[in-house]
Amino acid sequence: MTTTADSQDTQRFPDIYDPDLYVDGPIHEIFADLRHNDPVHWQPMPDQPGYWAVMRHADVTQVSRRPDIYSAEIGGVVLEDMAPEQLEQSKNMLLMMDPPRHTTHRKPLAESFQAKVIGQMEARIRELCRAIFTEAAETGDVEFVHDVSGSLPSQVVGELVGIPEEDWDQIRDWAEQSTSAQDPELAGEGGYRAGGGLSDMGVYAYQFAVKRRQEEPKEDLASLILAGNFGDGPMSEVEFSSFFVQLVTAGNDTTKTMLSSGLEALLAHPDQLADLRADRSLMVGAVEEILRYANPLHYFRRTALSDTELNGVQIAKGDKVAMMYTSANRDEAVFGDTAQQFDIRRSPNQHLSFGFAQHFCLGVHLARLEGRVFFDELLNTFSTIEQTGPSRRIRSNLNNGLKQLPIHLAR
Ligand code: HEM
Repeated sequence: MTTTADSQDTQRFPDIYDPDLYVDGPIHEIFADLRHNDPVHWQPMPDQPGYWAVMRHADVTQVSRRPDIYSAEIGGVVLEDMAPEQLEQSKNMLLMMDPPRHTTHRKPLAESFQAKVIGQMEARIRELCRAIFTEAAETGDVEFVHDVSGSLPSQVVGELVGIPEEDWDQIRDWAEQSTSAQDPELAGEGGYRAGGGLSDMGVYAYQFAVKRRQEEPKEDLASLILAGNFGDGPMSEVEFSSFFVQLVTAGNDTTKTMLSSGLEALLAHPDQLADLRADRSLMVGAVEEILRYANPLHYFRRTALSDTELNGVQIAKGDKVAMMYTSANRDEAVFGDTAQQFDIRRSPNQHLSFGFAQHFCLGVHLARLEGRVFFDELLNTFSTIEQTGPSRRIRSNLNNGLKQLPIHLAR
């Protein structure tokens, strides 16, 4: 027997759309209940159609690998439906393209993000980390999320893309605003800053493209993108601007979250932190476990292109489908009875924090490298790393991150 949206008992489970539910931490117990009892769960939303929350690892991978059924393009990747003009602009973001357009746009970029190319950035990333930690050492007491974790990705992405250094802080500010729409403290009155961030960055990117097209090409991603052939020739400045916004936002906040939530997880497991300090060969596994245990994004959305069935549930054409990474990363069917535990020695570790299949994160090697070098240099620089107060989380059903983590650092 198949289930449909109408036949689902939505009252039995808490409202997992409600951003307030995430303020005290990820809702792992509710997700486990859903995984076991209603793995493709219908969740209503205020003021617009609800969505199917896909809780199990196997079902999330199934949705990810079928862009012919589950589109990233027709409804975007977040649960809230966008205004038509906003959706139209988003279609120039790689993340929100379906094949064949997605394939022709991803291919010219893939080489620049290969492990061996990204690996060449290691020395520079190390240098940036050392400079950030030198500054942090001067005060000793830092707000780790913004003052420390956030500094690295904005500088790394800035250099990779070729954004002038004097604009990095502004870009970071816009990127931060864009991901905090559900948190009034970060987004400001009526979420204005959230929308403002993205459109301001879009205008900046357009002007940046016009300027760069008048200059000699440089050894950076902006030149590569502006000169690239994306199926029917180079991108227009308008297309570039959406592309730029997605790249810069994707590379900033997720990485910041990995670094700050990662430190929080390590401090909560002092034995494992001590092991990592003593044996850096554990670093690769530690970063993977941080990504699984404290995945920066709770979900991404798809929209059904036709009527279909998923794990016995009838999904109608046009329905929203959320791939719940936070739940999939704790699925006992994949991670066994230690799924809820933090274990830097976990192997294999098939987490879905970077997504899966066609849209698998293009920046994966860069994110992993930043994670490894950051924690390596942090442990090299400081013999004392202590949390001095409670952390505070972003109010969001999408961003699984911290907005404050008070830390004391001493050499
Ligand atoms: C810890 C850090 C990061 C996490 C957790 C993360 C996560 C993700 C996820 C979940 C997706 C979508 C997968 C899907 O829809 O199936 C994605 C796509 C993407 N990410 Fe990342 N990301 C991170 C860092 C980065 C960095 C550093 C960059 C580049 C500077 C980047 C660039 C991209 C791009 C361009 C896409 C779109 C790929 C496509 O649609 O083909 N990401 N990322």
